[in-house]
This record gives sequence, C-alpha cells and structure tokens, in this order.
Amino acid sequence: MSHRESLHALLQWYVAAGVDETIDTAPHDRFTKPVEAEPVETEAPAGSQAAAQAQPPARPDPAPAAAPGGASWSAHDTAQACATLAELVEAVRHFEGCALKRTATNTVIGDGDPKAPTMLIGEAPGAEEDRQGLPFVGPAGHLLDKMLAAIELDRSKVYITNILPWRPPGNRSPTAEEITICQPFVERQIELIQPKVLILVGGISAKALLNRREGITRLRGRWYDFATPRLDAPIPTTAIFHPAYLLRQSAAKKETWRDLLDIEEKIRNLL
Ligand code: URA
Repeated sequence: MSHRESLHALLQWYVAAGVDETIDTAPHDRFTKPVEAEPVETEAPAGSQAAAQAQPPARPDPAPAAAPGGASWSAHDTAQACATLAELVEAVRHFEGCALKRTATNTVIGDGDPKAPTMLIGEAPGAEEDRQGLPFVGPAGHLLDKMLAAIELDRSKVYITNILPWRPPGNRSPTAEEITICQPFVERQIELIQPKVLILVGGISAKALLNRREGITRLRGRWYDFATPRLDAPIPTTAIFHPAYLLRQSAAKKETWRDLLDIEEKIRNLL
C-alpha cells in the first residue's frame, strides 16, 4: 500500500470510528500526568516575538453557544413549519443542527407508502442504510421484511422510518442529545402521515416516542396511545424487539411472533 493509500485508509478508519473533527496536529496522551502550564510571559512588549510566543495559538472563533435544547428547539420549529411530507424531507436534508450529518453519507428518511395505515419507526440507519439512503435495507432490514411477510405485509403496505435520519458512526447507540435533536422531525412525520397503527421497532425508538424509561422487554406486547397536539386522534402504538436483536437472540423470536399476530389483528380491526 502506498503512503497516500495508507493515509486514506487511516482517515476512513477515523471517520468510521466517529472522529469528525481535528483539534490538533499531534495526538495528546490524556493518560499521562498533565504538565504544569508554563507561566505566561507578561512583560514582553506587545508585538515582540516573545509576546507572540506567549500567546495561545490563534483559534477560529467558536460557534456561538447554543441555548440548552437549541438545536432541538430549531428542529421543532423547522419540523412544525412543514405542511407536507415532501417539505419535511427537504427540511431534514437541509438541517445542520445534528453533528451526525457530517459523518453520514446519506440522509435516510422513509421508505414504503406514506399513505399506508401502518408506520414502523426504528432507531437509526446502519452502514448499508447509510450507503443506499433507505431505512432497513441491511441484515436487520432483511429480517424485518420477513417479519412483515409473516403477517402479509411488505414495504408497499407500510411506511418505515427511523428516529434518527443519520447513521451514528460505527453504528454506536445514538446519544440522548441526538435523539432529542431529531425527535421533532419523526414526530412531524407521524403527524403528516397519520397512520392508523404505529409500531416502534426496538428499545431506543420505543423509549423515545413513548417517553418511558423501561426497556423494550417491558414495553413490548402492550398497546399505548401516541398523541401530539396536531394529531386528530391518538394513534394505537406498540413496540417490538429490534430485528438486529433477534438476529443475536433468536429465542426472543417466539415473543415477537406473538406480537406480530397481535399487530395483525389490531390492523384488521382498525381497517
Ligand atoms: N436499524 C434501524 O433501527 N434502522 C435501520 O434503518 C437499520 C437498522
């Protein structure tokens, strides 16, 4: 591998690991005892070389500090201003308030039929979703397709989206701040689509949209009402195990099968 290629590979590795900013030209070993700061030379006349050396290196002005919840507040305003799904999709694509966008390849919003009665909401795009710009198209998505097929659904009969429209680097779990920032967009999607049934796929999505602290094991298998001031009526909502979890824990498929039958019955009764 040439020097240039190995640098490129190193950069790609940094991006995959979530490094989205360079702070200095050399790494810092944070595990060693910090060296006492040199006393700042104050006597040197301004403009002298000594004075210049005593100054900290010039840094660009930091971005203005956001008020607590600032990005999510502007996401809320932006989302609420959208009157159609197309407007919302454009607004999300242009939104700069979430750092995940910088490391993502694509903004991943929805797939399926926005007029479908059933809406599924997962966590965040993974590597394959980030590459293709579509939700649930990787290994977990293939299992989700099979789960839908088991109750005679497919992507033409549902609408699928995620809490986050950008992939967290290295597929790490989204932070609470990232969820808070992006949640107004997914809530507006729900308001605009007005599904008859909402299925929250996995614990992250269930906890965020049900505003609950319990994990998915406790939240699944029950029905809740999802409501916002702009929804005509609360939406019957349930939660299921995430297919990525089922790929690792196939014993949990038994409960999921029961959940899917329950969802099938609920949809049949509501249509
Ligand atoms: N997992 C999710 O929660 N969403 C996707 O789109 C892909 C994997």
